Amino acid sequence: MSGGQIMSNDLRQLIKESIRFELNVAEVYFGFHHRFSEDSNFWWKLLIEEKNHAALLMSGKEYFLDAGMFPSELVGSSLATLKNLNGELERLIGQEKESPMSRSAAFNLAIDLEDSAGEIDFQHAMHETGRHSKAIGLFQSLNEFNLDHADRIRSYMRQNGIDGAQAAPLPSAA
Ligand SMILES: [Fe+2]
Repeated sequence: MSGGQIMSNDLRQLIKESIRFELNVAEVYFGFHHRFSEDSNFWWKLLIEEKNHAALLMSGKEYFLDAGMFPSELVGSSLATLKNLNGELERLIGQEKESPMSRSAAFNLAIDLEDSAGEIDFQHAMHETGRHSKAIGLFQSLNEFNLDHADRIRSYMRQNGIDGAQAAPLPSAA
């Protein structure tokens, strides 16, 4: 197997785990959308955007990966980290159904998720302005409005007086 093939297999796994992560985050936000009627629109918007991130990665995998043009900056570089995050998040999704978290814990968890290894590389790639591949430019324009979740969550919390100091229930996500 050539070096190129090994790289492409690693990248395929990283993309797969990243898609799983985006969909897990969307599921968490879907739960919040249902439970917190006062924030229901806010969570709905975010969950649609997470689904769009997943869809972008899926198209990237389908159309760019085999052509050797997938921009690896879009996904994290540690497969183990992504797998751990997904495992923890899936446990938390199960747990959350039995004992739902408070409104402020929900927001704090969301910030941790958006700052975590599962989202941060995608976010950085979307802001890359220097030298980057044509592919990154294309992903940036496709993702135009689905940006800056952590900042948007923080400002929504400030505007609505939601406590940001509370510890989130996913300690290793940060
Ligand atoms: Fe995302």
